[in-house]
Amino acid sequence: MSTGPSTPAVASRPAPQARPRTPGRPRWRRRLVTALVILIAGSGAALAWGMHEQPSIAPIVWLLHPVQSFTYALGGNPHPVQFVLPPQQPLSAVALLGRQLFFDKALSASGKMSCASCHDPAYGYNPPPGSGPVMHGGPERLSPGFRPPPSLAYLYRQQAFSIGPDNDENETITLQQLVTLSKNAKRATKTAQSTAQAGQNLVPAGGLFWDGRVDTLQQQAGGPLFNPVEMDAGTPQRVAGIIEHQPYAKDFLQLFGPNVFEDPKQTVAEALFAIARYQIEDPKFHAFNSQFDAWLQGKARLTPQQMRGYLAFNDVHKGDCAACHLDQPTQDHLPPLFTDTQYEALGVPRNPHIPANHNPHYFDLGICGPFRTDLKNQTQYCGMFLTPTLRNVAQRPVYFHNGVYHSLKQVLDFYNFRDVQPGKIYPTVDGKVQKYDDLPPQYHANVDVTDPPLNRHLGEKPAMSAQDMRDIIAFLHTLNDGYTPLKPAS
Ligand code: HEC
Ligand code: HEC
Repeated sequence: MSTGPSTPAVASRPAPQARPRTPGRPRWRRRLVTALVILIAGSGAALAWGMHEQPSIAPIVWLLHPVQSFTYALGGNPHPVQFVLPPQQPLSAVALLGRQLFFDKALSASGKMSCASCHDPAYGYNPPPGSGPVMHGGPERLSPGFRPPPSLAYLYRQQAFSIGPDNDENETITLQQLVTLSKNAKRATKTAQSTAQAGQNLVPAGGLFWDGRVDTLQQQAGGPLFNPVEMDAGTPQRVAGIIEHQPYAKDFLQLFGPNVFEDPKQTVAEALFAIARYQIEDPKFHAFNSQFDAWLQGKARLTPQQMRGYLAFNDVHKGDCAACHLDQPTQDHLPPLFTDTQYEALGVPRNPHIPANHNPHYFDLGICGPFRTDLKNQTQYCGMFLTPTLRNVAQRPVYFHNGVYHSLKQVLDFYNFRDVQPGKIYPTVDGKVQKYDDLPPQYHANVDVTDPPLNRHLGEKPAMSAQDMRDIIAFLHTLNDGYTPLKPAS
């Protein structure tokens, strides 16, 4: 469906509630009340114009949709939706066990690191404030990692890694066959107005990690647990030995049977299963209680700046962020996740503060390696990384797959100036701007130069003004979980 730049529409609009007529009231009084309401609302909006605080709703849109525009101008949502949320039940016994494991530092080699050390619930399951681009693990917590930890929230709808659109045929096709199929496909430009079209692109989507190399949370948890630069838990024998002596060992026996400690591999498998259940069952991992969620449901207003940011986020001629970071509820009323779960090469600048990058021959190429190896010869995917959710993004200490940026301002500058003023983004060596300096030259062609705002040319006008960027950042702050709607004064 098409979504106008200045009137973002929700994917499916419920029919407006039929309001019962009040029989007793004479019609002229209703008219008068309506006129008064419009007058008051109008003067409010007019005041806002005067203060240069008005959301950027184009005059033509005002003419075409005056009521909608009024609602936007006042920070409201003309098309509130009711969310279909994941079921909320008390945590199962397995999930409760998983929670203990998630926070248990004893499992790590240093005895000082749990899952929560890098995925902190107090910050949207992001690394805690002040973290650098990579975390340090291992026995002394001195071994640097290679990428920043992504948030663990909002992964509950993540599909398995695949290439191309979902269809029944694909189920029996291997990844390599999909790669072959997708080679001749023409890629459609993604815009905030036509996100459905992008779904047809034969590009990689789904999966976990920045490169999609695993599919399930359970499969996933084994990675950090045993990764020598993360928890470095050693062998399954060591982990099982520790678990056996923790207070929650009795829960293991109860849940998985009296023989669970006989086979250490089995013990670890059950532990990973429990951690995965915890992430799936605990509503804190998918709280959907941000200010923007409240707004989508008609329970909160946005400030004029947040509203301008929302419109610019959706405006194809400004941020166009919603083309990839989807911000509308689905047709089935599932709340938006702020990612289309597709992979893109954005060509972010190299981060000299990642120790691995001290080697000039080391490149993190995402889908085609070095951490995943099944697609390493499919060079058309080199440089592609998963589009992350933007929920709780203001709580992240670093941004992008190499953590090169520390502030949302830097991120917005990247989107705005990458092509039009690349000298602002990349280092200059011998008078030459080193564009896409974190990718070997043979892969520069993989970088996305078609989806706005990344479709501009050297010297052209940037897509966003400084004000647009500040507004979008204000909007991004409405995506932090834990918003409590102000109660109307009684
Ligand atoms: C030392 C820091 C560290 C610790 C400890 C850690 N992780 Fe991670 N986690 C990471 C990094 C880094 C990534 C991304 C790696 C990549 O993309 O290659 C990640 C990715 C993930 C992902 C994928 C998220 C996504 O959006 O795709 C999940 C799920 C996850 N970790 C769960 C866990 C669990 C469960 C534990 C505890 C058993 C844990 N992590 C412990 C650093 C850590
Ligand atoms: C063409 C698709 C696309 C568009 C358009 C787009 N993004 Fe992204 N975004 C991505 C991808 C892919 C990444 C991860 C890239 C990487 O790390 O190399 C990303 C990463 C980010 C991150 C870092 C998140 C994190 O967890 O580190 C932020 C913040 C962000 N985008 C905000 C925006 C904003 C704001 C806009 C609009 C101005 C925008 N994006 C437009 C695809 C897109």
